[in-house]
Amino acid sequence: MAVHNQQEAKSILVVDDDNATRELIIETLHSGGYLNTREFNNGLEAFESFRESGCELIISDLKMPGISGMELLNKVKEYNPSIPVIIVTGYPSIGGSVTAMKKGAVDFLSKPFDPDDLLFKVNLYLKEKSILAADAVDCEDSNWKFKEKIRELSTINVIYDRIETMKGGNEEIFREIVLLALNVTGGDRCLLVLFDETEHTFYRKTYETKSGVSKEEESTLLNKLKGVFIKVISEKKALLTGSDENSDILCCTISVPLMIRNKVFALLTVTNDNPARTFGQKDLSFLQNLTARASLHLENTLLYESLFGSIMDTFESLIHSIHARDHYTERHSQNVTTLALRTARALRLSAYETESLKTASLLHDIGKIAIPDHILLKPGHLTPDEYKIIMNHSVIGENIIKSLALFEEERKIVRHHHERWDGNGYPDGLKKNNIPVLARILSVADSFDAMTSDRPYRKGLIREKAVDELLKNRGAQFDPDIVDAFVGTLDSPNKSASN
Ligand SMILES: [Fe+2]
Repeated sequence: MAVHNQQEAKSILVVDDDNATRELIIETLHSGGYLNTREFNNGLEAFESFRESGCELIISDLKMPGISGMELLNKVKEYNPSIPVIIVTGYPSIGGSVTAMKKGAVDFLSKPFDPDDLLFKVNLYLKEKSILAADAVDCEDSNWKFKEKIRELSTINVIYDRIETMKGGNEEIFREIVLLALNVTGGDRCLLVLFDETEHTFYRKTYETKSGVSKEEESTLLNKLKGVFIKVISEKKALLTGSDENSDILCCTISVPLMIRNKVFALLTVTNDNPARTFGQKDLSFLQNLTARASLHLENTLLYESLFGSIMDTFESLIHSIHARDHYTERHSQNVTTLALRTARALRLSAYETESLKTASLLHDIGKIAIPDHILLKPGHLTPDEYKIIMNHSVIGENIIKSLALFEEERKIVRHHHERWDGNGYPDGLKKNNIPVLARILSVADSFDAMTSDRPYRKGLIREKAVDELLKNRGAQFDPDIVDAFVGTLDSPNKSASN
């Protein structure tokens, strides 16, 4: 019964100028359950009916008055290529059959035809058509899903890329995260708050709105969101709320925790002003990806900063202890750092190299901590043996900092800051460009400050004399280009003295 109902619904056009044949076809179709038939004795009327009301299948004669079966086939295929057309003719020829098939007829029947054969073909082509139609829907559906998936993956890629390339301090990173969240969800407002676990308090960090959306109501928003925040923190899970659960400005909200080692340290919350625009699971997933990646990025940054900070604190206290013993060199590290950085700027070094040079300049004499007082603080000239001991400070300094992978570049600079351009320096007697460039810069800055500082056994040179010394040793002790760059950074009286 169900099969018959389906067949009844299929409309079939029968076109033949021979009444007997047409009636036989109609009878056959009805006997097969195909009751929705329309019959025509010419092609033009058939085509008009097809255009007005459509159909599932056409059975047509070839030779008819008005337009032929072949012309009807052409018109139908132009209009809708998916309609199966079966050609029936009393004058079969191989040529005619091939032409009809080429033009899109699905089959060819010769008169007199076998009714079972006709039904068999009608069943076959209608079934094939419905499968093709379902496939087309499936295909469109999977194509859409595929495109959606690609869009989704592209958005996640954009999120990852943007987070990986985020630069600057935490303030800038937080703002970037907020703008990115607005961007990927299309929300109206985004708020990032930090959460202090000890005090159980929220601190507003960054608040942005989509362009055109007013920035007012920030404190109201924060107050309204507190309930959401508490839930997200206690469950450590993102929360998506719809418009019915909120009032006023909280039409639709997504709040996602940022966590480090399973502890919530911040919350990223996006809201929509308009109740008609709600967020979906996809928006939630975007924000979860964003916060997971951002948490990882911030964890690395914060860890690095705190590790680097505490190491530098330790080193600085070591340097202070040297300064406490040796007042004459108290400002030496600081002066050398200032001079070296000026030279780095003149030589247009990268930010990374400049940072390494800064750290190495501050630490370059850290090895002096191991030099006994009677040598380090000796007021007179040093004996050759004492000088050898002093010379150890660059290798000792390197040993102090080399255990830390973070200071790989700085380690080399500290080791080689007493090398000479002509190869007569220590500890390795490196020559010219074999000496790391940052160590060559440090060497010039270090020597200049040493020459201009007062020592117990001598007065410091005036700047002009020190510049003369540098220029005299240009290409011997020092890299000539670096001497030029260094001298170029000094004040004009020294510049004139050097010329
Ligand atoms: Fe030194």
